[in-house]
Amino acid sequence: MIFSLLIAAIAGVPLIGVVLWWLLIKTEGVYLGRRTVIWLYDVYARRYDAIKQYDSFGEEIYLARPVLARLRDVRAPLVLDVATGTGRLPLALLQVPTFQGRILALDLSRRMLAVAAEKLAPFGNRVVLLHHAAESLPFPDDTFDLVTCLEALEFMMDPRCVLCELVRVLRPGGLLAITNRQGRDAKLMPGHTFPHARLERILRDDLRLTHVEIQAWQVDYRIVWAIKPGSSAPPGPLHLEDIWRCPRCGAVEMIPIEGGWRCLSCEARVPVGKDGVIEARNS
Ligand SMILES: C[S@@+](CC[C@H](N)C(=O)[O-])C[C@H]1O[C@@H](n2cnc3c(N)ncnc32)[C@H](O)[C@@H]1O
Repeated sequence: MIFSLLIAAIAGVPLIGVVLWWLLIKTEGVYLGRRTVIWLYDVYARRYDAIKQYDSFGEEIYLARPVLARLRDVRAPLVLDVATGTGRLPLALLQVPTFQGRILALDLSRRMLAVAAEKLAPFGNRVVLLHHAAESLPFPDDTFDLVTCLEALEFMMDPRCVLCELVRVLRPGGLLAITNRQGRDAKLMPGHTFPHARLERILRDDLRLTHVEIQAWQVDYRIVWAIKPGSSAPPGPLHLEDIWRCPRCGAVEMIPIEGGWRCLSCEARVPVGKDGVIEARNS
């Protein structure tokens, strides 16, 4: 009996190590809940860019140019980047001289946003950073010309619900660009990644999107494009107050005040951090 317990204890140590590696490193905390995911991104925020090693040439060729080619009919697109992290997509677009649009970028990790704010400071008010969750986007239906969510859906508690949110705020005729994890690591995240064919069916049959294309992109990800059917005029250069819903009551009646924003409907105040990030999560 004692011998069996001893063997079990010795065998258990590496097993615990493997389980912790899977829970915290491989799947980045997603099976431990949203707080753990965000905590890990907060911890790694300053090292994230060095780990990812994106280079501006590759980001232009494989990300910014393909996006802009698909948006060529929209003169100044209004873009929403969900789970922007350290501002990868805004930076790639804003560095292209012909891009004339405005970008709203949100994330739930405040420290990732702090890094994004430093990198995006030269672009002034062409990009607005919002500390907010992807699960309930604070914007009306049918708003954005382009909605993106790159390398992030698999870290959401319910990726399918987030997909619905992304599509909800996309305007008819607007473009969705997301990534789908693939390869061995995708298989280690059951319930959080989709086989490509299944994702295609969800986008086409459940969410009623058209022109769904799933293309080779990076080793671990494919890029997925889709269009929301219908057409509506591009919203043009909107101001944030025209589209931003109060995080407390949902009214689109936010006005800028000293040091932040105020809702005319419920009087909620939303502060803006020293780095310009709107602290919508704390209100
Ligand atoms: C792998 S990073 C991707 C960042 C960026 N899109 C990129 O391609 O470099 C995943 C990001 O998703 C964010 N995230 C995870 N869950 C979130 C949620 N529920 N709401 C908003 N952001 C979330 C994390 O904070 C992190 O910044």
